[in-house]
Amino acid sequence: MTPGRGGTTLRVEVVDEADGAEGIGRRAADVVAEELAAGRLATFGVATGSSPLQVYADLAARRLPGWDAVEVFALDEYVGLPAGDPRSYAAVVEEEVRAPLGLDPARVHVPDGTATTEAGLAAACAAYEAALTARGGADVQLLGIGATGHIGFNEPGSPLSSRTRVVELAATTVADNARFFARPEDVPRRAVTQGVATIATARRHVLIARGEHKAEAVRAALEGPVSPACPASAVRTFADVLVLLDPAAASRLTRVPVGAGPAA
Ligand code: GLP
Repeated sequence: MTPGRGGTTLRVEVVDEADGAEGIGRRAADVVAEELAAGRLATFGVATGSSPLQVYADLAARRLPGWDAVEVFALDEYVGLPAGDPRSYAAVVEEEVRAPLGLDPARVHVPDGTATTEAGLAAACAAYEAALTARGGADVQLLGIGATGHIGFNEPGSPLSSRTRVVELAATTVADNARFFARPEDVPRRAVTQGVATIATARRHVLIARGEHKAEAVRAALEGPVSPACPASAVRTFADVLVLLDPAAASRLTRVPVGAGPAA
């Protein structure tokens, strides 16, 4: 383990290109399975986006016992999509996590971005934060990273002390998300997200990044200052973090992580 700040452990691994998404998925699924088998996975924090999909597929294929007691909390949700919209993160979590793992729908929580008033959205944020806090945070939290350096939807400028709230999405994120929507004007501009400090309450984190387009965000997160300018940099203050990268996502790191081979 590499020491992070304040007595934390941060381990960065580069997964062999030949193993690709499946290799990263297997490695992350090992962490989740280890906690589940030890009876320590009361609360599983899940992320959307493409990065963790292989983790869920791998976990589902293992057919592990014990899932019926696990409570699942997602990181974020778009504001403004109607309930049941197939592009909502609630729909993604249903399809990619709940159904494949056979979880009880009552145990799967996604922030509610459907309220049509600011007061309604604020109440939904407060309720979500309270529900997760009441469980003491996630036991394992999966994370992707946005090209902006976001975790959840905490864009640059998000205070490291932030909690679940409504946020404006960065223009880059809106552009990145446009591929899921028919017309550019349909892409949500706002989201509900767990705050950086909410995410920090998890006991273990596994952050996954793949591809050259993530390389600069990964470098800023792991080697730049711990700062709201790169919310993902906060992982260096978290208790127990495993960062899983493919060689492209690791390509701008100046320090050689585990599994990356000798420096050129
Ligand atoms: C969205 C999600 C993030 C996720 C990011 C990366 O913005 N809100 O939680 O980390 O996508 O997505 P991908 O894994 O598809 O690159």
